Amino acid sequence: MKIAIIHGQSHEGSTCMAARELANKVGGEIREFFLPRDFNKPCLGCYTCFKTDLSSCPHYKELEPLVAAILDADLLILASPVYVYHATGAMMSFLDHFGTWWMVHRPLPEMSRKQAVAIATAAGGGMKSTVQDMADSLEMWGIRKVYKLGLGVQAAKADKIPDGILRKIHGKTDRLACRIRKNAGGRGCNSRAKKWFYVMRFAHRHFPPMEPDHSYWEKRNWHGKSRPWRQD
Ligand SMILES: Cc1cc2nc3c(=O)[nH]c(=O)nc-3n(C[C@H](O)[C@H](O)[C@H](O)COP(=O)(O)O)c2cc1C
Repeated sequence: MKIAIIHGQSHEGSTCMAARELANKVGGEIREFFLPRDFNKPCLGCYTCFKTDLSSCPHYKELEPLVAAILDADLLILASPVYVYHATGAMMSFLDHFGTWWMVHRPLPEMSRKQAVAIATAAGGGMKSTVQDMADSLEMWGIRKVYKLGLGVQAAKADKIPDGILRKIHGKTDRLACRIRKNAGGRGCNSRAKKWFYVMRFAHRHFPPMEPDHSYWEKRNWHGKSRPWRQD
């Protein structure tokens, strides 16, 4: 399995440890990127991607290696420590660049072949909202299966995680890796994105067309019988 890990921090602490542990248990070819080290640009809000294409983004040259790794991956892992109850600014800035990939704009059919995991570690609280920050994008990109793993580590540093907590983390990554391996190779769309596909399809058919989204859908016959999760 091809695995891409996007780390929401540039250091190798508890979150990195948990993400790597999961990836190694799933097994395969692993590529890693660290934010902001490997991509550090905040979205400029220029709307170029919405008006034309992501490849016209002023940051595309720096973004391209990460985009290529995501598109090549069977399993995508987004991992972030909890910073004040949310994913790191670096992770959120990175995800801001992919608004056009959302199901309500111009989703990529190849997402229907992928699985993804949103992982967060916190000293005590905020795992749920942080995991959801990342899962919002993964789900709305139309990724087939999106798993959420929030870990309370009771520590600021990985080497200070209590043994009992470490054992629990090992158990959780064991079980999740097993599910991911079992679900490998399928095709589909998560239920949240599927619902938004049909909401948007209705809007496209009943309201004035928003371009270039409308033509993108029309070209792929999504206003007709085709669906992103059945297309290459
Ligand atoms: C700026 C900052 C904000 C943090 N905010 C929270 C928080 O809201 N809730 C929490 O439980 N831990 C918080 N923490 C602690 C980290 O989330 C926690 O120690 C995490 O496991 C660190 O992961 P890392 O080793 O990968 O950096 C914060 C740490 C930092 C540096």
